[in-house]
Amino acid sequence: KTYKVGYLIGSMATESINRKLANAMFKLAPEALQFEEISYRDLPIYSYDYDPDYPEVGRKFKKDIESCDAVLIVTPEYNRSVPGGLKNAFDWASRPWGTNSFAGIPSAVVGASIGAIGTAVCQQHLRSILGFLDSPQMNSPEAYIHFKDGMINDAGEIANESTAEFLGNYLKSFHEHIEHMLSKVPADS
Ligand code: FNR
Repeated sequence: KTYKVGYLIGSMATESINRKLANAMFKLAPEALQFEEISYRDLPIYSYDYDPDYPEVGRKFKKDIESCDAVLIVTPEYNRSVPGGLKNAFDWASRPWGTNSFAGIPSAVVGASIGAIGTAVCQQHLRSILGFLDSPQMNSPEAYIHFKDGMINDAGEIANESTAEFLGNYLKSFHEHIEHMLSKVPADS
C-alpha cells in the first residue's frame, strides 16, 4: 500500500537548506511514501473576515491537505519559532471554524538550521500547533538537523553515511506511524 505524503517547506528562499534537505531525504524514503509538495506561497495573511466567503486559494490549500494520507513539515527556525508564512498556512487550514483540515491527518516535523540548536525551539512550537489541530503527530524519533557545508553533495544526496542512515530510519518510522494511525477504527463507527 502506498501513501500520499504532502510536504510543506517552511522557507520561501530559493536556496533553502530545508528544501535541499527534503529532496535529499526523499531519496532515502520507503517506496510506499509518495511525496508531493503543498504550496502555500499565494495565501494572503489570514483574517476571519475571509471565513464567510473563503477565497479559492484558501479552499485549494485546505483541499490539498485533506487529499493527503499524511503531512511532513520540513522547516527552518526563524527567531526561535515557526516562520511566519508557515504559521499563516496553518491558520488558513484551521478555518472556517469546524473545518480544520489537519484533524486526523498524521504528521511529522523535521528541520535544518545553520545553528547548533537545529530548529528544536521551532519544532516545539510546531508540535503545539499540530496538537491543537488534532493531527496525530509522530513524537519519536525527532530530527534536529544542524546543517553544515558538504552535508548534501552535488548530487543532492546526504553525504555522511550515519546522517543518511538516521534520516532513512526517521522516514521508516514515519511510514510505520502513518500505517498505525490510519489503521485505527474511528470511535464512532
Ligand atoms: C534565521 N536563522 C535562525 N537559525 C536558528 O537556528 N534559529 C533562529 O531562531 C533563526 N532565526 C532566523 C530568523 C530569520 C528571519 C532568518 C532569515 C534566519 C538562520 C537560519 O537557520 C538560516 O537562515 C537557514 O538557512 C534557514 O533555512 P532555509 O530558509 O535556508 O531553509
